[in-house]
Amino acid sequence: MELFLFLVTICLSLAFSGKCSDDYSRNDFPEGFVFGSAFSAFQWEGAIAEDGRMPSIVDTFAHSGNGSNGDIACDGYHKYKEDVRLMYDMGLDALRLSISWSRLIPNGRGPVNSKGLHFYKNLIHELKTHGIEPHVTLHHNDLPQALEDEYGGWIDRKIIGDFTAFADVCFKEFGNAVKFWSTINEPNIVAWALLATVLLHVGWSNCSKGNSSTEPYIALHNMLLAHASTARLYKQKYKASHKHNGFVGITCFAFWMVPFTSSEEDEMATQRAKDFLLGWFVVHNYLEVLHPLMFGDYPNVMRRIVGKRLPKFSEEESYLVKDSSDFLGLIHYPTTYTADLSSPRQGDYASDMHASIIPFGNSSLVNVDLLPWSLEGLLEYIKQNYGNPPIYILENGRPTNHQSSLNDAGRIEYLHSYIAAVLNSVRNGSETRGYFQWSFMDLFELMEPNYTYGLYYVNFSDPERKRSPKTSALWYSCFLNGTTNCSEELSASSSPGLFSEKVPI
Ligand SMILES: *[C@@H]1O[C@H](CO)[C@@H](O)[C@H](O)[C@H]1NC(C)=O
Ligand SMILES: *[C@@H]1O[C@H](CO)[C@@H](O)[C@H](O)[C@H]1NC(C)=O
Ligand SMILES: *[C@@H]1O[C@H](CO)[C@@H](O)[C@H](O)[C@H]1NC(C)=O
Ligand SMILES: *[C@@H]1O[C@H](CO)[C@@H](O)[C@H](O)[C@H]1NC(C)=O
Ligand SMILES: *[C@@H]1O[C@H](CO)[C@@H](O)[C@H](O)[C@H]1NC(C)=O
Ligand SMILES: *[C@@H]1O[C@H](CO)[C@@H](O)[C@H](O)[C@H]1NC(C)=O
Ligand SMILES: *[C@@H]1O[C@H](CO)[C@@H](O)[C@H](O)[C@H]1NC(C)=O
Ligand SMILES: *[C@@H]1O[C@H](CO)[C@@H](O)[C@H](O)[C@H]1NC(C)=O
Ligand SMILES: *[C@@H]1O[C@H](CO)[C@@H](O)[C@H](O)[C@H]1NC(C)=O
Repeated sequence: MELFLFLVTICLSLAFSGKCSDDYSRNDFPEGFVFGSAFSAFQWEGAIAEDGRMPSIVDTFAHSGNGSNGDIACDGYHKYKEDVRLMYDMGLDALRLSISWSRLIPNGRGPVNSKGLHFYKNLIHELKTHGIEPHVTLHHNDLPQALEDEYGGWIDRKIIGDFTAFADVCFKEFGNAVKFWSTINEPNIVAWALLATVLLHVGWSNCSKGNSSTEPYIALHNMLLAHASTARLYKQKYKASHKHNGFVGITCFAFWMVPFTSSEEDEMATQRAKDFLLGWFVVHNYLEVLHPLMFGDYPNVMRRIVGKRLPKFSEEESYLVKDSSDFLGLIHYPTTYTADLSSPRQGDYASDMHASIIPFGNSSLVNVDLLPWSLEGLLEYIKQNYGNPPIYILENGRPTNHQSSLNDAGRIEYLHSYIAAVLNSVRNGSETRGYFQWSFMDLFELMEPNYTYGLYYVNFSDPERKRSPKTSALWYSCFLNGTTNCSEELSASSSPGLFSEKVPI
């Protein structure tokens, strides 16, 4: 009954119906193109103090505010079977997930927690038996607090060895089932000024600590080296011997930027910002490649501006970093204006770009405009400037107020137009191979908990954390099934046909 009423509501209120009739289907994508959805360990699992898991810096941060925290989140730790079933029913090809380092190795280094190990083995097994390909991110911001306390986390080179050892456990234990590995999530954004102060220091709680003119660069440098060291380990020790000949990549947060005015200064500022945010991390494998991961060094413009504060790669490191990625993971949300900032504040990561980042249109953290051309521009830019590497879009999606209607027409409109943008790019030669919508269900969103990205609504006031499909879940499922006019299909169905026996509401 509930479902019936739900569908009637959809039929009556599909504001976009007709306005954006779908003119493509997933069958227009090349064979093997993967459509998935995503979440991260911390935002989904909960059970933060259960079965031997120790705190991570994001737990500490969440507890430092006065609002909600991720202690229970979606309770995915206990509900993983139910959730995999929902993914299966939706028709996902793949799921992007991450491993909580402090669940697997509670103190960051040392003994493996067997209960944590079993949890991830079970989860991955559950996905595989439902035909869902796991794309695993090793580090999604949740550094073990123990390592932060011991040596400051990413600002110390010791992290490289510890991260590589953590990755070794993951490759050894899950490597037979997992083909796609991303080492580190959003390293460029982690280093960004705000997060540099919050993420890198003392559980985010002490913003006066740390040196924003040097430490973001050091942390980034260490992330690149940790990534490279891990990728080498995989190639040397695992790639050849495992059943699955897998791939290792890195994931970066990619704004798209447009000049604030058509002045030459603003054009140049835009290029500088792209160099800083993207050039730092863009990856390629075999062919000769760009910037650290492509050229084995930072872009010249960064060397010039940042000077001695920018760490140097030794010859060996440069070589190691350069050939370290099989693919590039992209996280894309906002588009920004970029304006020349000719007299910047002196010398920190944010001002070294000599550019100001200005919100585009009505965009903010919680209000993401529909600008699909930005994703197309980004993919074309990477194609033309970074040797057209294989790309997986590992996050893209639109937030809505958590308590708003289950009829999330705006999210459908967003997915429809951004997936169309990906199709345009692929048709024009981009090597993009997968699209992962963020997020499968409403998660604990650290920066702005009242705005969530889920295809499924999660009732965080309910001890059972009940999941309910939003209209976008029905739309994505219809799209994944190869249907062309899903919006119309949805508005036309007068019976609970689309999800009939599948989704228990
Ligand atoms: C938390 O509450 C305290 C006391 O009410 C207040 O001083 C502080 O600014 C709040 N912190 C945040 C992050 O809102
Ligand atoms: C923040 O760090 C400074 C310098 O290390 C220290 O003096 C201060 O006590 C710290 N404050 C808190 C609240 O931890
Ligand atoms: C940050 O490091 C730079 C370079 O070592 C140094 O000149 C500067 O004084 C430091 N700033 C602070 C606040 O410690
Ligand atoms: C910003 O909001 C206004 C008013 O809702 C709308 O007309 C305009 O198209 C929006 N801008 C963008 C870039 O979406
Ligand atoms: C398509 O690719 C060609 C060749 O790389 C390029 O010149 C052209 O600008 C691209 N078109 C679009 C719309 O990006
Ligand atoms: C989030 O929503 C709750 C409940 O409506 C409200 O009390 C809180 O102030 C909101 N938080 C923010 C950051 O807007
Ligand atoms: C969420 O769960 C609480 C507690 O079970 C319940 O009172 C509330 O009505 C639910 N909210 C929604 C939107 O379903
Ligand atoms: C998927 O498509 C097939 C035919 O292409 C159709 O028979 C089936 O009902 C569809 N399933 C859903 C859930 O839309
Ligand atoms: C999709 O809907 C549009 C608008 O109703 C229609 O013109 C088109 O023929 C439909 N395409 C398919 C494949 O059914």
